[in-house]
Amino acid sequence: MPSLPDSPSGASPTDAYYRLHAKVYDATRWSFLFGREWSVKTIAALRPAHVLEAGCGTGRNLQALQKLLPTTCFWGIDSSVDMIDRANKKLGQQTNMQLIQGCYDETQVADMQTEMDVVLFSYALSMFNPGYEAAMKTAISQLRPGGSLVVVDFHDTNQSFFAKWMGVNHVRMEGHLLPLLQDLTEPVECQTHKAYGGLWRYLCYRGVKV
Ligand SMILES: C[S@@+](CC[C@H](N)C(=O)[O-])C[C@H]1O[C@@H](n2cnc3c(N)ncnc32)[C@H](O)[C@@H]1O
Repeated sequence: MPSLPDSPSGASPTDAYYRLHAKVYDATRWSFLFGREWSVKTIAALRPAHVLEAGCGTGRNLQALQKLLPTTCFWGIDSSVDMIDRANKKLGQQTNMQLIQGCYDETQVADMQTEMDVVLFSYALSMFNPGYEAAMKTAISQLRPGGSLVVVDFHDTNQSFFAKWMGVNHVRMEGHLLPLLQDLTEPVECQTHKAYGGLWRYLCYRGVKV
């Protein structure tokens, strides 16, 4: 994975990246962030009372979930000011939706003071570099026993040029998420799917906190 440049403003590299990309995010990501519908349907079927999305971006998943689960309490957290601003414009008026700008960590979890039925990471963990392992452990600490960790994300690619290109876009796709998810939770659903004829594979995972 190529090293990531420091942002001159002091923001993290992904925050600087989303300063540019937030404007076009919703219009473009449908074409390659596959499996997000699976995560929405999977969570809706669980009828959870409390759901958090870590790295919620523009709030696209939270909006879809809220339509299906109007009485559920939702939390969304994202480190990018530009992305969470967009989520706030979409969802900020909803009384059952709390949106937080910040890094997903134990301090934020302590402030939320709620045990979650579901924690969702949708195309977030592959961008937490470093930090994906700590973020998974934070999610486990925030889930109630029997609660679900739902993950949809890039899995791997056998094309080195593509792995390099994704690295430039702050995404690591080396199959590194799945073994850790399987270590930390009891797997319930675990599928990998090919995208664009096998250029990469993406992961759809639900595991339960034991
Ligand atoms: C590819 S976007 C995914 C957004 C949304 N989950 C979706 O499915 O459309 C990844 C998001 O993770 C956020 N992010 C990166 N590192 C983070 C961290 N440590 N804590 C919280 N959010 C983070 C980024 O700002 C970005 O909005």
